[in-house]
Amino acid sequence: MLVSGTGSILQALLDACAEPGFGARVVAVGADRDGTGGAARAAAAGIPTFVRRLQDFPDRVSWDRALTQDCVEHKPDLIVAAGFLKLVGADFLSEFGGRLINTHPALLPSFPGLHSVRDALAYGVKVTGCSVILADAGVDSGPILAQHAVPVLDGDDEDSLHERIKVAERSVVVDTVGRMVRNGWSVQGRTVRIGS
Ligand code: GRF
Repeated sequence: MLVSGTGSILQALLDACAEPGFGARVVAVGADRDGTGGAARAAAAGIPTFVRRLQDFPDRVSWDRALTQDCVEHKPDLIVAAGFLKLVGADFLSEFGGRLINTHPALLPSFPGLHSVRDALAYGVKVTGCSVILADAGVDSGPILAQHAVPVLDGDDEDSLHERIKVAERSVVVDTVGRMVRNGWSVQGRTVRIGS
C-alpha cells in the first residue's frame, strides 16, 4: 500500500486482512514522506515499510524509478494507494498499470485533484462520495471500480464532510480489494467487471 497521511484506510484493510477468508494480506507500506500515521500503523502490525521522498531525488523520473523498485521487491499482486498524494510516473505504470488502485474522496469524474472535498462544498452539491479507481497516468482519470454516495449536510465544513466520506471509503476499499483478489477482474475500455 502507498500512503501519505494518517492511514485510516490502510488500517481498515489491515483489519480486514486479519479475517479468515478475506483473501489478501498487506505485504508492505510505502510513503512519500517521513512520520506518516500510515507507516506507524504498518510498523505496529509488523509490516515492512519504506519511504521515498521526492526531494531526495534529482527529478521525478528517478524518484518514480526508485519507488517502483521498492514495490517490485515486495512482489505485490495489487498496489493500493490510499491517501497517497503523489502521481506516479511511467516506470511505475509500466510495472503496475492495471493493478494500481486509488481511492478518491469525490464521485468522479466530478471534483478530481487534491482539493475535491473543498471543491464539492464550494460548488454546493448535495451529494458527493468516494470513488475507487484503477489509476492511470491522468489525475483521477482511470476506470472506476466502485463508488459510494455520501450526502452533504447543512453546516458541513471540509473536515466534517471528509470524515463522513472516509467512513464510506474504508468500507468501499475493503469490499473492492477483497472482491478483486477473490474473484479477479477484467477491463473493457472504461468498464471494469469484478468477478465472472
Ligand atoms: C482519503 O480521503 C483519500 O481518498 C484522500 O486522503 C484520505 C486518506 O485518509 N486522498 P487516511 O490517510 O487513510 O486516513
